[in-house]
Amino acid sequence: MASISATTLSLLWLCMTPTFTYALEEHQSWQTWRRGLWRRADKSSARSVPPEGYYNPLAAGGSLLTEIPVTYPMGQGEPLNAIISGNSDPRVLEDAETDGGLRNYFLSFGFSGECLGQHAGSHQAANLGDGNGFLNETSVIRWNYGDPQLGACRETIEGGNHFRYWVQNGPSGNSGAYFLAVSYELPLNLGHDIIANGYNLGRDWLIGNITGSFVQTPNVTNTTTFVGITTWANYTYQSDIKYVSGLLEDTNDGINHNITVGINGENSVDGLVAVIEVQITGTPPSSSAWRSSIPPQLWHLPPILIILAFTLLPSLLS
Ligand SMILES: *[C@@H]1O[C@H](CO)[C@@H](O)[C@H](O)[C@H]1NC(C)=O
Ligand SMILES: *[C@@H]1O[C@H](CO)[C@@H](O)[C@H](O)[C@H]1NC(C)=O
Ligand SMILES: *[C@@H]1O[C@H](CO)[C@@H](O)[C@H](O)[C@H]1NC(C)=O
Ligand SMILES: *[C@@H]1O[C@H](CO)[C@@H](O)[C@H](O)[C@H]1NC(C)=O
Ligand SMILES: *[C@@H]1O[C@H](CO)[C@@H](O)[C@H](O)[C@H]1NC(C)=O
Ligand SMILES: *[C@@H]1O[C@H](CO)[C@@H](O)[C@H](O)[C@H]1NC(C)=O
Repeated sequence: MASISATTLSLLWLCMTPTFTYALEEHQSWQTWRRGLWRRADKSSARSVPPEGYYNPLAAGGSLLTEIPVTYPMGQGEPLNAIISGNSDPRVLEDAETDGGLRNYFLSFGFSGECLGQHAGSHQAANLGDGNGFLNETSVIRWNYGDPQLGACRETIEGGNHFRYWVQNGPSGNSGAYFLAVSYELPLNLGHDIIANGYNLGRDWLIGNITGSFVQTPNVTNTTTFVGITTWANYTYQSDIKYVSGLLEDTNDGINHNITVGINGENSVDGLVAVIEVQITGTPPSSSAWRSSIPPQLWHLPPILIILAFTLLPSLLS
């Protein structure tokens, strides 16, 4: 009897070992690890993504323009001119810097979170037509001048490319897509106004940072596509980029700073949105790659085994 239980126990132990090893490697407690998995599972099951990778906010009372609390004249907004498609790798759609998440993807093309974690500037609100109504931006991300730690501070002072972003995850349109309002701003001492043509240029310089080659803004149309490969923390991302029309208007009306941004008879918004579908094509050599090779159903196995072990132990040992 004693030898049987010893064998059973070592088998159980063998089954459970990888799980504990994994949890320890990630420096997380068992509890946070389990919570993370449930959250991920819940979200992905609730998400439903149309072929385009997002729901058109206009179809459900939303808008592709942000709302800014203090604008003159009233009611001017900034264009949501880039979208991270809901058809992207689910890991990219997690707003995290770990596990190849969204923040890590931003870093892969030179954009960091705000200077020392402090929010500078006003809030803007957007209604993505997903049933959440108007919400302030999730965060502001700034081009980091090649310095992931402090570059965003330099951007805050000297100006440069930056974007606010919102996630489309409300009850009536949960695509998981992220909508970005990209613009190139002037230095702080000039009030962070937007440079001439700064919405279209901001969008295209961001795309240029992903593809590694300069985008000719006057040449982009609703048939323009690009592919870019970027890497950060050993995660490699393939971005398939497609410019689409029909979401934003080609207009100067109702656009923030339209007097100085739209110049030489060009509208400050050219009516195009860059839709980016991101796939992870390379992962770090160790734990994470190992983990993605495990089918999701098996995540629930170890706790069941633990319960079984504790239920069966007394009878096995008796
Ligand atoms: C946005 O943030 C401002 C300032 O914190 C706050 O007053 C406002 O209520 C927020 N708006 C929304 C829609 O949450
Ligand atoms: C990358 O972004 C910077 C800042 O916006 C811009 O000056 C540069 O031209 C971009 N690179 C490409 C290749 O577009
Ligand atoms: C952009 O268009 C101009 C003129 O329309 C053309 O000369 C130039 O080669 C184009 N650039 C690219 C990168 O296609
Ligand atoms: C592209 O834009 C043209 C107008 O410039 C429009 O006629 C056409 O329907 C658009 N195509 C798509 C696929 O949106
Ligand atoms: C990336 O992987 C290499 C080994 O292939 C390792 O030496 C390096 O520390 C890793 N870098 C990061 C940021 O994880
Ligand atoms: C800017 O937009 C407003 C509407 O918000 C419009 O009345 C005005 O004519 C626009 N200005 C320019 C220079 O296009």
